Amino acid sequence: MPASAQDDFLSITGLEKIYPSRAGAILAIKDVSLCVGTAEFVSLLGPSGCGKSTLLRLADAKTVLFVTHSITEAVFLADKIIIMSPSPGRVIDTMTVELPRPRRLAVRETQDFTRYVARIRTIFEGFGMLRGTHVHE
Ligand SMILES: Nc1ncnc2c1ncn2[C@@H]1O[C@H](COP(=O)(O)OP(=O)(O)OP(=O)(O)O)[C@@H](O)[C@H]1O
Ligand SMILES: [Mg+2]
Repeated sequence: MPASAQDDFLSITGLEKIYPSRAGAILAIKDVSLCVGTAEFVSLLGPSGCGKSTLLRLADAKTVLFVTHSITEAVFLADKIIIMSPSPGRVIDTMTVELPRPRRLAVRETQDFTRYVARIRTIFEGFGMLRGTHVHE
């Protein structure tokens, strides 16, 4: 997280979105808080239906949040990864990726890279994900 709030390009606190539907209210995202620094590349990672598109629409921040289902893609690209739970989407972890830049493809074979991927995989496995969902390595 940036040292000062003044460095934040985007700051969201306690965001919730409920879609009305004929079958009843759909809680799409719940208590989502996040911040994005001015020069920060942030990946939003989570399974299908967890509310990534909803969050993008509400934040109107399409250029600063990169949405992906791929753990390795998120780690390769991001300075910070916002990890979301299955629906209703909550932020379950925020991980700073301290791999040096520029990142060449070979970084994917380093221990540091593998550790980041394993940490995220473990988080998703804890939610019973990775099988039959759209998050993958
Ligand atoms: N316009 C809408 N009306 C009702 N429910 C909606 C609407 N848009 C999204 N939802 C519901 O809100 C939840 C979050 O959907 P959203 O599309 O934001 O997820 P997502 O993470 O972008 O999924 P994907 O990875 O498949 O793109 C889902 O349960 C979805 O069915
Ligand atoms: Mg989407």
